[in-house]
Amino acid sequence: MKPSLIEALQNITTGIYILTTGKGHETHGMIVSWVSQISFDPPLIMVAIRKNRPTHAMITRNKNFALSILKKEQKDLVGQFKLADTRNRFKGLKCVVAKTGVHIIGEALAYIDCELYQTIDVDDHTLFIGRMVDGDVLNKGYPLSVQEYGKIYLGYA
Ligand SMILES: Cc1cc2nc3c(=O)[nH]c(=O)nc-3n(C[C@H](O)[C@H](O)[C@H](O)COP(=O)(O)O)c2cc1C
Repeated sequence: MKPSLIEALQNITTGIYILTTGKGHETHGMIVSWVSQISFDPPLIMVAIRKNRPTHAMITRNKNFALSILKKEQKDLVGQFKLADTRNRFKGLKCVVAKTGVHIIGEALAYIDCELYQTIDVDDHTLFIGRMVDGDVLNKGYPLSVQEYGKIYLGYA
């Protein structure tokens, strides 16, 4: 990717989210930032997941996902959800079961719970489109942005 394009991309503002998928004990989580609402009625949101990630196969199988929206003070959780031993990603966190059966992060700012609505193949990523079945604010605070975190996901990390 051209360096000037990378510099331009550093200026796209998104939040940072813990995406979870699965049911009960089978819940898996990863960090995502390529997220956007794409329809009002029905209420739809999309997340782009690189095809080689274990999470990709899991969303396809479980047909659900949730986004726990991180707060400004929760940069440490980004590192925790990079851990290779996926059992340690949820260590010390209070998980709550949402409507679709997926665990959400109780300490997060807010959450959005989705059932899988559609998938769109876009080369090295897949757009998972979720119908938002539930969501709420969980705690006081402000959302963590990719600029505040200091590193932008460019599609290959
Ligand atoms: C700030 C940040 C944002 C990220 N956003 C995405 C994203 O939107 N889509 C994606 O496929 N990977 C994204 N990643 C990379 C994944 O979180 C990372 O590769 C993770 O290990 C994948 O989890 P898994 O191997 O359990 O599937 C992001 C990473 C960081 C640090």
